Amino acid sequence: MKRKVTKAVFPVAGMGTRFLPATKSVPKEIMTLVDRPLVQYAIDEAREAGIKEFIFVTSRGKGALEDYFDHSPTLEASLRKSGKTDLLETLKATNMESGAIAYVRQHRAMGLGHAVWCARRLIGNEPFAVMLPDDVIAAEKSCLSQMVEAYENTGGCMVAAMEVPKDRVSSYGVLDPKEDMGSLVSVKGMVEKPPADEAPSNLAVIGRYIVTPDVLRTLNKLKQGAGGEVQLTDAIANEITEGRDVHGLRFKGQRFDCGTKAGFLQATVSFGLARDEFRDELTEYLTEVVAAQKVAQ
Ligand code: UTP
Repeated sequence: MKRKVTKAVFPVAGMGTRFLPATKSVPKEIMTLVDRPLVQYAIDEAREAGIKEFIFVTSRGKGALEDYFDHSPTLEASLRKSGKTDLLETLKATNMESGAIAYVRQHRAMGLGHAVWCARRLIGNEPFAVMLPDDVIAAEKSCLSQMVEAYENTGGCMVAAMEVPKDRVSSYGVLDPKEDMGSLVSVKGMVEKPPADEAPSNLAVIGRYIVTPDVLRTLNKLKQGAGGEVQLTDAIANEITEGRDVHGLRFKGQRFDCGTKAGFLQATVSFGLARDEFRDELTEYLTEVVAAQKVAQ
């Protein structure tokens, strides 16, 4: 079954413990790269890929996310009054058409697979995208657009994939390739967080997926997998067992793991350097800092 992908699920119910104490009161997805929260990058990517309905799986303490996508009449009136049309324009990206965004709660953090399953009634019987906003991808054509395009030919399930150093594979879901066709790889197995010496490859899954409703049915039945959580990769791997297609796409672009502090810092520098208004000043500053570090060593 091939159909257009128009819905995306954003699982954001995790506790974000790696960013404590910040995430004690600020949702990780609201943390900001330059001047836009992580979630804005994900929404922009989804829009570019043709997504029309945005489903957030949230948890207690994520109210700031709902406010972010709401109209702010007082702020907008004040900007209008002072003629700040450029800022009003900037705010437009944060507004959602009525009914285009929905929130469901995951009452306990029982894993990514469980979070996706919580959105089942809003998805119904059609393929959908899953996007993790803490994976931020800088790309000429957005990562999800590349996947949607490839999916139009393959159908089935598709995951975004990238090569990682062998000693890092145990942090990822890892693909067992059947046929490597260059950017597209057909997959005969998937393992969640394998030890480096047992990993079937170094092709890791990152936070973009296109999945069929069959995956929801599997999540319904799935027993707890690796780490005592319900894993999305286990449900996708089950598709292979059932004889259905799963592909990995080596997307073109640079992925930043903004779920880690080091990744977040790197993304901040890269996105800063990508902006005309900061490039020169930031380059000069970084050059000075690096030179001073070398002298100090
Ligand atoms: P992570 O593994 O990064 O967990 O989840 P986390 O809670 O966000 O962060 P740490 O590890 O405690 O620092 C990957 C994605 O899956 C979502 C998270 O919100 C994040 O977007 N998730 C994870 C859920 O929605 N529910 C869960 O039960 C687990």
